[in-house]
Amino acid sequence: MQYDIKDKNLKTEGKKRIEWALNRMPVLAQIRTRFAKQKPLKGLNIGACLHVTTETAALAITLKAAGARPLICASNPLSTQDDTAAALVFDYGLEVFAINAEDRKTYYRHIDAVLKEKPKITLDDGADLVSTIHKRAEISKAKIHPVRNINHSRKRNKISNGVHLPWASTEETTTGVIRLKALEQEGRLLYPIIAVNDAFTKHLFDNRYGTGQSTLDGIVRATNKLIAGATVVVCGYGWCGKGVSQRAKGSGANVIICETDPLRALEAVMDGFRVMPIKAAAKIGDIFITVTGDINVVAKEHFPLMKDKVLIANAGHFDVEIDIKSLERMAVSQKEAKPLVREYTLKNKKRIYVLAEGRLVNLACAEGHPAEVMDLSFANQALSCEYIAKFKDKLENKVYKVPDQIDFKVAELKLKSMGVNKDQLTREQKTYLTAWREGT
Ligand code: NAI
Repeated sequence: MQYDIKDKNLKTEGKKRIEWALNRMPVLAQIRTRFAKQKPLKGLNIGACLHVTTETAALAITLKAAGARPLICASNPLSTQDDTAAALVFDYGLEVFAINAEDRKTYYRHIDAVLKEKPKITLDDGADLVSTIHKRAEISKAKIHPVRNINHSRKRNKISNGVHLPWASTEETTTGVIRLKALEQEGRLLYPIIAVNDAFTKHLFDNRYGTGQSTLDGIVRATNKLIAGATVVVCGYGWCGKGVSQRAKGSGANVIICETDPLRALEAVMDGFRVMPIKAAAKIGDIFITVTGDINVVAKEHFPLMKDKVLIANAGHFDVEIDIKSLERMAVSQKEAKPLVREYTLKNKKRIYVLAEGRLVNLACAEGHPAEVMDLSFANQALSCEYIAKFKDKLENKVYKVPDQIDFKVAELKLKSMGVNKDQLTREQKTYLTAWREGT
């Protein structure tokens, strides 16, 4: 058994936290019970590049119960919970390669450690693992002449230019799905992907309620800032942005939305928010939250416009949404104000506080999404792994949606676990809803 974690002694705390999550993920628990009997993933190495949190622990334990050998690395250098990692290794016998605040080299060394074990299925969050495989295959392709084995055929090879290819992968987040669809469009996707993010039972709940709550949680834990009465500028009114805005509004903030998409900007207006360009919002905001998946959303021209003591946090997947490099150059001084809060003082004497180096604030400054919502996302992950194991030979090198039968099943199971009964269509209603002859 291999691993690379921070400290074995953290395992006791980690175990308590994992148990807390396990007890709040009833859908995954039901899947785990079935998996333990049926062993649908027996003997499979599964490489998981996910945030190493207690909820991911619950997923990994479920995959192990299904007979798999999960190998886990982090999908973000700041999101790893070192105590969770320790308990996973020493209490649950899982192989984890992740240390909080690891540098870029270590981050990719840990991805490598997972890939070395030639996983049959990979789970990714942001596509760093899948793109590593693709970059390697491209490099090998450049070295090997004539080109061999770049396969777009139905019957897929398991090796491309000497690089081991998994049967298929899942992808957890919006940014990862965008990257993988770009690969697909260029005709370069080397193995099938199931876009877990695109399941209704993922983005409607995880992105909205999970990111919504945990982003504010992260900001409050890091700064203890009073949200009531603050002007909160949310950049991006997608699934995550809607959640963040709702939670901020519910906490008494005056919320401003910055958007580039006309439909979403209009939706924000009709949801009761003020919408304006970031250049205008920069002058009045107290707290800025980026959640777009885009680059330089809060950019160098915006910093000098800001008030004194503003907070800036990012909840989008990568640390590119706030132009910190420019801020570093513009600042006359900087220091750590509090753990994970960096103070930059500009020439105009105004102070700007950036949280968690512009990385995912909800994971770096808080615990990420609550277990109750990750129950849905990771039920999709577990059932998608089972689906891949069953149907791998039928999948092509495409980005697939999670099959509807899985998506709706997850919703049914969650409702049941919450003790919520819903109506069922009668036979008459089913016929009516699929007929065209009935009218006025
Ligand atoms: P989405 O695609 O639903 O929404 C993104 C929105 O940002 C779109 O409406 C888009 O028009 C807007 N946008 C793009 N560029 C912009 C700009 N320059 N200024 C203003 N608005 C702009 O995506 P979703 O699902 O809301 O995800 C957003 C990001 O959050 C992604 O990077 C995703 O991977 C990440 N994410 C983070 C989570 C977390 O735990 N912090 C959880 C889930 C997703």
